Amino acid sequence: MLSQQNVSFLDEELDIRSSRLIPLISYPHFSEREYKDRIIEMESLGITSIILGGKTIVNGAHIAGKGCVGIVVKAKAGSKVCALKIRRTDADRKAMDNEARLHKMANSKGVGPSLEGHTKNLIAMEFVTGQSIIDWVVGNKATKSKMCTISAAILEQCFSLDVAGLDHGELSRLARHVIVSDRPYIIDFESASTTRKTCNVTAAAQSILLYGIVANKVKKILGNTDREKVIHALRTYKHLHTRAKFDAVLDSLLL
Ligand SMILES: Nc1ncnc2c1ncn2[C@@H]1O[C@H](COP(=O)(O)OP(=O)(O)OP(=O)(O)O)[C@@H](O)[C@H]1O
Ligand SMILES: [Mg+2]
Repeated sequence: MLSQQNVSFLDEELDIRSSRLIPLISYPHFSEREYKDRIIEMESLGITSIILGGKTIVNGAHIAGKGCVGIVVKAKAGSKVCALKIRRTDADRKAMDNEARLHKMANSKGVGPSLEGHTKNLIAMEFVTGQSIIDWVVGNKATKSKMCTISAAILEQCFSLDVAGLDHGELSRLARHVIVSDRPYIIDFESASTTRKTCNVTAAAQSILLYGIVANKVKKILGNTDREKVIHALRTYKHLHTRAKFDAVLDSLLL
């Protein structure tokens, strides 16, 4: 089921056939064929309108987000709100089927926004209201205990994926792949794999605790991360994905 959510007064709701949405539905290149297919696909998912709003601006329109594979807008199926990922016409893949399959697998382990449906060019999923982890940490509102809770929750989700044998593939770019709401949501399963060696905990822990802008901020808030202890715990975990080895990684966070 799609989640019930209020629409902010700043948002602007448009019927999916509104001419203003044409450049978003077939983005970045317009093709009549692609546009018509996508309208039919939206109808098959029950999507009736798209709600403009969000931090990202595409052709003058505010949307929820944009990447190399898709643009993400808030959409409505009747009164239910969802996030709709629309395949870019220049994406390096022909369909969203594989991403949807891997996303569903993540959902079965309690990870990721709940997937509501998909077609060749679209994925409809739970809309996550929140901030990217980078905005969340830089926004500086996190207390030490909240930072620990969110970091531990991200790592727990990564551990579930490791145990399930599903490698997300892009958690070293954590800032683009975690949205913090009431809890953290790992998003975007397009690069995931069930055949690669899983390194979700290792990749995410490095971004949270060791290297880069998120880690620097986390270090400032937590104040006492023992770098050597983290590195040692991750090295040991890397060879053996057991609960005990994972707990040692968590320990290094919760000093
Ligand atoms: N379920 C969601 N709820 C709210 N916003 C979302 C949701 N999914 C994605 N977004 C927003 O849309 C952006 C792009 O989504 P996503 O990462 O899935 O696209 P992508 O094309 O695969 O991107 P990339 O090139 O970074 O891999 C995200 O960074 C996020 O801001
Ligand atoms: Mg992606």
